[in-house]
Amino acid sequence: MNLAGYTVSDAIPLPPKTDYAIGVIGCGGIVNYAHLPAYTAAGFSVLACYDQNPETAARTAREHDIPRVAASIDELLADPAIAIVDIAVTPWAQAGIAARAIAAGKHLLCQKPLADRYEDAVRVVALAAHAGVKLAVNQQMRWDAGIRVSRQLIEQGALGIPADCRVEVSIRTPWHMWPWMAESPRLEIMYHSIHYQDAMRHLFGDPDRVTSFHHRWPHQPETGETRTLTVFHYPDDRRVTIDVNHHNWSDDAYARFRFLGTEGIITGTLGLLYDYPTGRVDTLEYQPNREPRQWFPAQLSTRWIPDAFVGPMASLMEAIQSGGKPLTSGADNLGTLQTVFAAYRSAAEGRTITLTEIAGEGREHSGDHLGDG
Ligand SMILES: NC(=O)c1ccc[n+]([C@@H]2O[C@H](COP(=O)([O-])OP(=O)(O)OC[C@H]3O[C@@H](n4cnc5c(N)ncnc54)[C@H](O)[C@@H]3O)[C@@H](O)[C@H]2O)c1
Repeated sequence: MNLAGYTVSDAIPLPPKTDYAIGVIGCGGIVNYAHLPAYTAAGFSVLACYDQNPETAARTAREHDIPRVAASIDELLADPAIAIVDIAVTPWAQAGIAARAIAAGKHLLCQKPLADRYEDAVRVVALAAHAGVKLAVNQQMRWDAGIRVSRQLIEQGALGIPADCRVEVSIRTPWHMWPWMAESPRLEIMYHSIHYQDAMRHLFGDPDRVTSFHHRWPHQPETGETRTLTVFHYPDDRRVTIDVNHHNWSDDAYARFRFLGTEGIITGTLGLLYDYPTGRVDTLEYQPNREPRQWFPAQLSTRWIPDAFVGPMASLMEAIQSGGKPLTSGADNLGTLQTVFAAYRSAAEGRTITLTEIAGEGREHSGDHLGDG
């Protein structure tokens, strides 16, 4: 579509070859309501699935026409037909399973967070690089319509110099869908704002410093922080602000983005957050910095769930056949995790954290190897 003279599209491109056999490890909520519907719509082939709860795996296979239920992770990894392993387990189990999949020579799509300790993520990325397999992280917000079209506008110069970039989310989140998340001492940034932090890196590049403030809501049942305010600082005049509250009980819920540059402004809403996990299509409008003032609305049609979930898997497949890197490669994701761990350190220590401080600690671990998990 044409937006004020710029060409944009929220359609998600597929690579020429998409018939890789996928094996899914972990058959919980997100796999059933996002991964598998997206893969079915894209025509991807899921050959087998495994969950530590056999009934969960059997039900998932039945409901999504998956031909095989593996009796163990080893059985799934030993299947030579499976080229890609899609891991969607609880985060502390992921790094060990990823290490086993890498040892079996499989390409992988891992969940966000890649690991709940930075050094574990660094080790997994190093293992994949050493084994020559492709590792992508499921930071699918980059393919969400509002973010995807914003990226295309920014690449074509529609913002000029992006200067004041904001994500503002004030919603009521159904944390009860993930009892283990609700008990986690690190909640909002680790499991939710990690998407915004990754998407803002995608749009505006890596910050060099991060400041973050974390709060709870009075009497909240969740253990970790549910309100955060995070600022990305850059060496120039760019600034990104991510302001999130998950305890907005009112009917004034909002999830919006606003990117103001020298030559234009993009504003929009993140439809998924208005009614998770059903959601609605994002909105996006663009106004160029010229008279007469005029808003140009984009006609978007894809949703974060399930459509954007095609993106990371398609990008991984493209990387396998081209020999390139997935857009959300493990190595790239270390940059996102640096902003995540910097945010936690900033909030804990009441200071601004440079990303080199976090990255330096990770380098100490890049030569280690993970055992079976
Ligand atoms: N938008 C997103 O990208 C998004 C949204 C929600 C969740 N997630 C992530 O996806 C992952 C799973 O989340 P969920 O919502 O499906 O959680 P869930 O609790 O609904 O499901 C987790 C599943 O993993 C299985 N499991 C746990 N440990 C396992 C192991 N060692 N081996 C095999 N199976 C194991 C459990 O039995 C369960 O079926 C998490 O890492 C979460 O952060 C991502």
